[in-house]
Amino acid sequence: MLVLGIESSCDETGVALYDTDHGLLAHQLHTQIAMHAEYGGVVPELASRDHIRRLTPLTQACLQEANKTLKDLDAIAYTQGPGLGGALLAGASFANALAFALNKPVIPVHHLEGHMLSPLLSEHKPAFPFVALLVSGGHTQFMAVRNIGDYVLLGESIDDAAGEAFDKTAKLLGLPYPGGAKLSELAKLGQPGAFSFPRPMLHSHDLNMSFSGLKTAVLTAVNKIKNDNHLTDALPEQTRNDICLEFQNAVVDVLSAKARQALQQTGYRQLVVAGGVGANWQLRQTLSQLPGIQTFFPPMAYCTDNGAMIAFAGAMHLALAQPAGSFNVRPRWPLSDIVH
Ligand code: KG4
Ligand code: ZN
Repeated sequence: MLVLGIESSCDETGVALYDTDHGLLAHQLHTQIAMHAEYGGVVPELASRDHIRRLTPLTQACLQEANKTLKDLDAIAYTQGPGLGGALLAGASFANALAFALNKPVIPVHHLEGHMLSPLLSEHKPAFPFVALLVSGGHTQFMAVRNIGDYVLLGESIDDAAGEAFDKTAKLLGLPYPGGAKLSELAKLGQPGAFSFPRPMLHSHDLNMSFSGLKTAVLTAVNKIKNDNHLTDALPEQTRNDICLEFQNAVVDVLSAKARQALQQTGYRQLVVAGGVGANWQLRQTLSQLPGIQTFFPPMAYCTDNGAMIAFAGAMHLALAQPAGSFNVRPRWPLSDIVH
């Protein structure tokens, strides 16, 4: 079965071809980062228009890369939500129009399910069951993954997602959009111990988390330094790097403590980390060293948004049942809706 996957939930247009016998055949991505950078964040209307512009050439490039034609497709999977309404509609319209023209099934995919299953795209992959830590710009959740489509929500952030905290903290430190990855690079230059930030809900005895207080703690520290030193402009570079490191330490501490707890609670020995923050070097390092646990990360290219994870999740659903398909988008779509 050959499935075309379309991702357009935010600021990346991803298109990929997944073959159930031969694996991932092609994968194309266009990132809108440069376009949104001058506004300091994603401008939804610009995002939608750009997805429309990119979808056809990226699909053509994918087919060419895999040496396939539209007639070879067995189904078309697309991200139905969650995400930006207009951006999702661009992908949904494209996928549904193509499916209608080719008389093939269309498979709506939950974006987070795509992320959660993306480590299964690697050669070294986990077996069911496993604990998944989903850490993206919009979500921070622990899931027990018992099989394809069989997920139990174990806990989640009650306010900001970890990626959101990275981005907001980066912004208040004056780093350009998208700040999360930049902040983690600067953390490498930080001196440990120069600051101490809270680990919210570290001892809450459940698997819920909170990251908005951490960002506020950084803001308070920055304001104090600026006031004490009569600074009107940017922080000294070393101070900024020290804050980056200690902020990252706090996030990683909370995520790794909760990951240990999730593994203990379920009795599972495998941990899968997915979503954009899964690209973070310190999180990777720490979670790879959990004793007695095998940790899996998606290949770097599939950590952030991409079409491969949507094509793969679509192919898995196609194998389970012939999808009914429906032409709608779900900008707000809790993963718990597809959870048992
Ligand atoms: O999964 P993703 O590409 O999009 C969403 O579905 O949200 O995740 C994007 C998030 C952003 O918040 C970004 O700052 C964060 O992932 N991110 C990182 C790193 N690379 C991306 N956060 C920390 N360290 C990184 N290296
Ligand atoms: Zn994502």
